[in-house]
Amino acid sequence: MRVVDIIAKKRDGVELANEEIGFVVEGYTKGEIPDYQMAALLMAIYLNKMSTQETVDLTMAMAASGDRFDLSQISGIKVDKHSTGGVGDKTTMIIAPIVASLGVPVAKMSGRGLGFTGGTVDKLESFPGIDLKPNMETFISNVNRIGASVIAQSGEIAPADKKIYALRDVIGTVGNISLIASSIMSKKIASGADKIVLDVKVGSGAFMQTLEDARVLAKAMTDIGNHLGIKTIALLTNMDEPLGNAIGNILEVKESIEVLSGEGPEDLIEMCVLLASYMVMLGRNSESYAEIEKEVRAQIRDGIALKKLKEMIEAQGGDASLVDHPEHFKVAGLTSDVVAEREGYIATMKTNDIGKAAMLLGAGREKKEDEIDPTAGIVMRRKIGDFVKVGETLATLHTNREDKRKEAMDIILDSVEIRQEKATKKPLVLDKIL
Ligand code: URA
Repeated sequence: MRVVDIIAKKRDGVELANEEIGFVVEGYTKGEIPDYQMAALLMAIYLNKMSTQETVDLTMAMAASGDRFDLSQISGIKVDKHSTGGVGDKTTMIIAPIVASLGVPVAKMSGRGLGFTGGTVDKLESFPGIDLKPNMETFISNVNRIGASVIAQSGEIAPADKKIYALRDVIGTVGNISLIASSIMSKKIASGADKIVLDVKVGSGAFMQTLEDARVLAKAMTDIGNHLGIKTIALLTNMDEPLGNAIGNILEVKESIEVLSGEGPEDLIEMCVLLASYMVMLGRNSESYAEIEKEVRAQIRDGIALKKLKEMIEAQGGDASLVDHPEHFKVAGLTSDVVAEREGYIATMKTNDIGKAAMLLGAGREKKEDEIDPTAGIVMRRKIGDFVKVGETLATLHTNREDKRKEAMDIILDSVEIRQEKATKKPLVLDKIL
């Protein structure tokens, strides 16, 4: 097989065979195929698109390029959840204990944050002492014993995707649906779940800005999973504003504890109830969403899920006393309110920009090597549809970077659009692919 023939075939719009895709992915990962040939092929794929079969074949080739987690030692159906990223998305910390407390095991592999999106690993590291890099035996034993555990994503998961994604990034081929779908699903499949719930975010804080684009991506991802016998469903959810109020690691952990204590922002509660209910439904092979939703709400109301979170943190060596005493978490040295400069209703938010402001304050990383400040971030005080008067607080900034305060404040003021007429708020769930 010659790479040049495979490139020419795709250039001419002909479907590639599984062996050809496997040959290129393997060769590129091993460094035997140069960047310029891979770049040419990716551009041909970008322009001529891929069929479902080609997308599945690419997914499997990338999943097979590194370690595949074997979760067969965990009893029960392992259901994973994946969000396509967003601002203030702290659902894993809330959902994992709920789902585990209802008897469905959660063996969660999570990443760190980059750019304006956060990562569960950074958030959980707010608990001093927590070990998010246990060996596989300990991870599996924790899931079997407690019901849920989180492990940091290692470099050995789908290394082909890592290399191809980095190349796509610099040659203008990130935005192809088959390439995005296979990139995300290759990592999910290598993570070993039996079933997957996808949360595909739509809006100003999401990768996909329109419902139409998000639907196409969600369909491509569910097609891949279902084709491979891994039951996959997708919920398309609104990310026109941050999820909940808190953005930034310790701030988000505190808000998660609030939700598990029966308090917290409405949109975050509803999002977590929804995702947890679908995960339990898949884990039990059940059809009765309404019944399961009642059980999920009861686990929160009765404090059972909160107790499960403590067990999870403790089992991984973290200081679980903070769950009972969130006031003992470290706090940022400076807080400042951003206040409204005009009266009216909050109409829109540039959510990505709000995420960038949080990053500027220290909550996120611009580059992979950057250190984060766990205490930094933003707490939004108003949501879309709320009314504000001049001088009322829109958001509170938390930081140790005095020099970035003004810039972050200006970004927030520019991001929050205030109008005289009340905007209609979009529903949280925009569509479902079940
Ligand atoms: N996230 C991924 O993991 N891959 C993509 O291609 C885009 C977003």
